[in-house]
Amino acid sequence: MPNKDSVTLIDNRTGKEVELDLLKPTSGPMTIDISRLYKELGYFTYDPGFMATASCWSNITYLDGGKGILEYRGYPIEQLAEKSTFLETCYLLLNGDLPGKNELEAFQEKINTHNMLHEQLKTFYSGFRRDAHPMATMVGVVGALSAFYHDDEDVHDASDRMDAAHRLIAKMPTIAAWSYRYAMGMPFVQPRNDLGYAENFLHMMFSMPSSEYKVDPTMAKALDIILILHADHEQNASTSTVRLAGSSQANPFAVLASGIASLWGPAHGGANEAVIQMLTEINESDKDLAHFIDRAKDKEDRFRLMGFGHRVYKNYDPRAKIIREICHEMLENNPVSNPEHQALLDTAMELEKIALEDDYFKSRNLYPNVDFHSGIIFLGMGIPLNMFTVLFALGRTVGWVSQWNEMMGDPKGKIGRPRQLYTGESTRDYKEITKR
Ligand code: CMC
Repeated sequence: MPNKDSVTLIDNRTGKEVELDLLKPTSGPMTIDISRLYKELGYFTYDPGFMATASCWSNITYLDGGKGILEYRGYPIEQLAEKSTFLETCYLLLNGDLPGKNELEAFQEKINTHNMLHEQLKTFYSGFRRDAHPMATMVGVVGALSAFYHDDEDVHDASDRMDAAHRLIAKMPTIAAWSYRYAMGMPFVQPRNDLGYAENFLHMMFSMPSSEYKVDPTMAKALDIILILHADHEQNASTSTVRLAGSSQANPFAVLASGIASLWGPAHGGANEAVIQMLTEINESDKDLAHFIDRAKDKEDRFRLMGFGHRVYKNYDPRAKIIREICHEMLENNPVSNPEHQALLDTAMELEKIALEDDYFKSRNLYPNVDFHSGIIFLGMGIPLNMFTVLFALGRTVGWVSQWNEMMGDPKGKIGRPRQLYTGESTRDYKEITKR
C-alpha cells in the first residue's frame, strides 16, 4: 500500500516503480520531491522556464496566480498597500513578522545609518558614459559595492547577512538617484534622514542646489505603495538569479547586481519602460490601435502588447488591481501638463479598454500587469523613462536580500546546478584544420 503522501511512478520501459515523496506546502499545490529520481530511474526531468518546478522552499511570499492572491509572510498585499509603509514591509519581509514600534524605529535608524555612499564610489559613476542607461550604472555600482564590503562579510554569519541587507536597502535609493543624476550631468544630492524612504529618493532625484525642492506628499505616498507592491514576488527570474548566484556563496553585493541585470529585460522589470516605448511607437505611427492589436496576435510578428500577460497570474494580478486604482485616481486629479505625455496616457487607457474586451486577450487571460500601470504612473509623476525599471529594482531589493538571506541560512543549502537535455553532436574526432 503506497504512502498516501507519495506518488508512484512506473517506468513503462522497464516496469520499475519508484515511490516519490509528496511535500505539503502551507498553501499551494502538493509538490513531488524528484531529487531521488535520477538515482532511482536514471532520468532527469525537463521543465523549460520552470513552468511546474519548485526550485526551493521558502517562507517569504505566497502567490496563487489562479485566484489572484499575493501575500508577504501571510499578510495580503491589499492590506499592506493600504495600511503599511515600505520600510515596515521591508522589516516584515526580512524578519518574518511585523515590527513593534521600537523595532520599527530601530530599523529606520539602521537604514538611516547606511544610506550614504562611500566617497570613492563616486569614481565608479564617472567611469560610465555620460548618457549611460541608469540600469547599466546600477548593475555596475551595486556590483562595485562588493569591493567595499568583502573581507568583513561572512555569508554564513546571520548578523553579517543582516548588515548586508540593511546596507543594500539603505543605499539603493542613493545609488538609483545618483545613476540618474550622473546621466543628466547634475550634481549628486546626499540623503536626508528627516525624510521617509520614498520622499528621500524623490529628494535625491529632483533637488537642485539653486532652489528648494519640496517633495509632494501625494507623490511620495503613491511611490511608497508602488515600492510595497514590487517588494517581493517569490521565485521570479531576477530572484531565481539572485538565489543561483548566491548559492555559490558569492559576495551579496555582487549577487544583487546579478538580480538587477536579470530584472532589466523587457519580459521582466524592463516592461514598464517598454510600455511607454510601445505607446510612443503607436502614437508616432500613422496606424490605428487595431493595427497594433492585430500585430500582437500575429504569431509571425515579434510584437507583443507590453504590460499585458503574466507567467503566473492567469486571472488577475492583485498588484495591478491596486496600482490601476492609483493610476486612474492620479489621472483624474492631476491633469498632465505635458501634451505629449497626455497623448500617451490617452492611448494607454484606450488600449487597456480594447484589449480587455478582445477575445484573443480574454481567452488567454492576458490582463494588464503591474508594469502597465506603473509605467503610466511614473510618466504622470514626471519620472524619466529610463528610471522606471530602476524604481522596480529599488522596491525589489528587499525581496532579493530576504530570499538570499533565507537560502544562506539553510544549513542543508546546496549550490544551484541544474541539469540539461543535451541535443548537440555525439562524440567525434578532432579534425586537423587542413582537413576541414
Ligand atoms: N501580447 C500578445 N500576446 C501575448 C502576450 C502579450 N503581451 N503575452 C502572452 N501572449 C500570448 C502568447 O503569444 C501565447 O499565445 P498562444 O497560446 O497562442 O501561443 C499565450 O499568450 C501565452 O503566452 P506565453 O508566452 O506562453 O506566456 P508566458 O507565461 O511565457 O509569458 C510574459 C509571460 C509576461 C513574459 C508575457 O505575457 C509577455 O511577454 N508580456 C509582455 C511583457 C511584460 O509585460 N512583462 C512584464 C511581466 S509582469 C512584471 C514582472 O513580474 O516582471
